[in-house]
Amino acid sequence: MTMAPEKITLLENKRILLGVTGSIAAYKTVDLASKLNQAGALVDVIMTEAAQQFVTPLAFQSVTGRAVYTDLWQPASAGNGLPTHIAHVGLGEGADLLVIAPATAHTLAKLAQGLADNLLTVTALAARCPLMIAPAMDGGMYMHPATQANLQTLQGRGVLLVEPEEGRFASGLVGKGRLPETPTLIGHVRRALGGTGRLAGRRVVVTAGGTAEALDPVRYITNRSSGKQGYALAQAALDAGATVTLITSAQHLPAPTGAHIVPVDSARSLRDAVLHAVQGADVLLMAAAVADFRPAQVAEQKIKKQDNDTGITLELTRNPDILLDVKAQRTTDGWPRVVVGFAAESENLLANARDKLQRKGLDLMVANDISAADAGFSVDTNRVTVLDVQGGQQPLELMSKTRVSELIIERVAALLTDQTETS
Ligand code: PMT
Repeated sequence: MTMAPEKITLLENKRILLGVTGSIAAYKTVDLASKLNQAGALVDVIMTEAAQQFVTPLAFQSVTGRAVYTDLWQPASAGNGLPTHIAHVGLGEGADLLVIAPATAHTLAKLAQGLADNLLTVTALAARCPLMIAPAMDGGMYMHPATQANLQTLQGRGVLLVEPEEGRFASGLVGKGRLPETPTLIGHVRRALGGTGRLAGRRVVVTAGGTAEALDPVRYITNRSSGKQGYALAQAALDAGATVTLITSAQHLPAPTGAHIVPVDSARSLRDAVLHAVQGADVLLMAAAVADFRPAQVAEQKIKKQDNDTGITLELTRNPDILLDVKAQRTTDGWPRVVVGFAAESENLLANARDKLQRKGLDLMVANDISAADAGFSVDTNRVTVLDVQGGQQPLELMSKTRVSELIIERVAALLTDQTETS
């Protein structure tokens, strides 16, 4: 049996108006509407006449389970619980976000001019929620000075722009103007909706993945960390409105939209990146699994086996303890305000985790129980206990790494609020 897709807390019960205009990329936004709906959002679709040349209203209605609007004079109630004014007022009222994707050059020009000649452009004028536009068109049209000027006008008014991507168009030409794929579009929607969250204005640094310690040019020692917990933390911090730097060795994972990615590999490169990034940062979430030891020598050439070799002995040397270095730096400059460590333990979970909390000068320690197959490294779920400096411990049941991250972010936000109130 396959699991239903997980709801996205930030999107649950959010009213999103999706405006679809006449581009071949309209077919992609059926998937966007579907994924937003699966994530828990209430998606009302407005289609222009040109959009209906590419996709039918029934396609959107089928994936959202809600009426689709095409006509300026159609009442907005239609069973969606919307006020029964004429559509453009009813749809705009109480919406959390208006996303126009794909947005054609023609619609962008109308929006820039404030023209109101169809249900979508009238709604865009009437709605009080933020407006996000995702242009999709031929590269020549996108780069045309008229389109660029219209985009500048719109951005100057606070309209959120999702930059189109470079690539091949339906015409066979290549250029900038392709609508990004659904995960990227949803990432932008999350950025827009999370902007006023509990970490708005805060800078958060997250580390993710296992370090790799080179033996020779082709081999290295690493561990089983997939980076999933760190990436989920970065996304949860973004959803709460933070500016996020994600220092990662797990670059195979899709980057959360809006995060500043710093790629690293060894413990020492991670250390340098962390010590740099935490200057002026509010929070450090240290989910990376850092090698405590590395090969004492890195062979310049690939290590060869000899016929009579029965084994080789590797000499290892200590790596820096990054959190101890952060502790020392924090003592002098006060940054970051809150430091959260993670401990993956196979025995004496709480005692070992509490010892690390105290020794490394942390505010919270997240103790992972890795004795079960469904928690800790590589899997999508985790079972953790959050320890604090007052001796408190919050055991959490088995849950997704996404949910674990949201709860950690709530604890972090509360600590920052306490600090602000007592300073
Ligand atoms: O990446 P996933 O597959 O999703 O798995 C997530 C995870 C299990 C890796 C993660 O949740 C986790 O527990 N990370 C910490 C792993 C660990 O065992 O760390 P530690 O007990 O060795 O270290 C404790 C803390 O000190 C950690 O925050 C670690 O980042 C930090 N540390 C460790 C060694 C070192 N030299 N410098 C450090 O700063």
